[in-house]
Amino acid sequence: MTNIKISKRLLNIAKMVDENSNVIDVGCDHALLDIYLSLNKKVKKIIASDITLGAINQAKKNVLLYNALDVDVRLGDGLSTLTNKDKINTIIISGLGNQKIFEILNSDKQKLKDVKTIIIQSNTGYDSIRKNVCNLGYYVVDECLVKEKNIIYVIIKFKKGKVKYSKKELYFGPLLLKNKDKLFYELINKEINKNNKIINSLPYNKIFKKIKLKINNYKLKKYSS
Ligand SMILES: C[S@@+](CC[C@H](N)C(=O)[O-])C[C@H]1O[C@@H](n2cnc3c(N)ncnc32)[C@H](O)[C@@H]1O
Repeated sequence: MTNIKISKRLLNIAKMVDENSNVIDVGCDHALLDIYLSLNKKVKKIIASDITLGAINQAKKNVLLYNALDVDVRLGDGLSTLTNKDKINTIIISGLGNQKIFEILNSDKQKLKDVKTIIIQSNTGYDSIRKNVCNLGYYVVDECLVKEKNIIYVIIKFKKGKVKYSKKELYFGPLLLKNKDKLFYELINKEINKNNKIINSLPYNKIFKKIKLKINNYKLKKYSS
């Protein structure tokens, strides 16, 4: 097979990858994104890594199936599969939770020394992602929202450097706030509805949790208007 069809979410991640970069995709699973990059983008190096043997075996099968033999598939936890020789300058982490993403990026700061670009699509807590990655010495250069199967994904591209953001920008995204497209409002409304459902299901004695969620909803409405 010579070409590969990938989801809209993965396609938008691929679009953010710079030409000629040396990439590691942490938590590659099937490695479809990496195969797409190998076949369609001029990346110099692409490492597809995963902690699960089953995922790695599937990734290797896919690499053979699509004849994307330059995709280097590696088994291991986070950035532990990297050596100095790899000279990776771009990290992609997508489809993992917020906490796991921070753990991976924080596990070995030496591994970030030459990393100029980080592309993240977190499955949870899109609001705290920016704060944490910016604290590692990066700033936001691109952001987009992608809706697929009724889920809205936030994809963020960071570059090395320092920019000071307001709380509001860190929470909603400096570029998403500028654009405020239809999906932006849909995402905020989804968040408000989710909070309201939790508020309504909480027992009477969980008053503090209810208040916290109500304050959160107030901020979401105020900031997004
Ligand atoms: C939901 S899949 C996402 C796959 C792909 N990145 C995507 O966006 O479609 C998450 C993958 O991350 C892998 N994973 C979880 N923790 C990991 C870690 N610490 N290091 C490497 N891979 C990890 C899992 O084994 C799984 O294959």
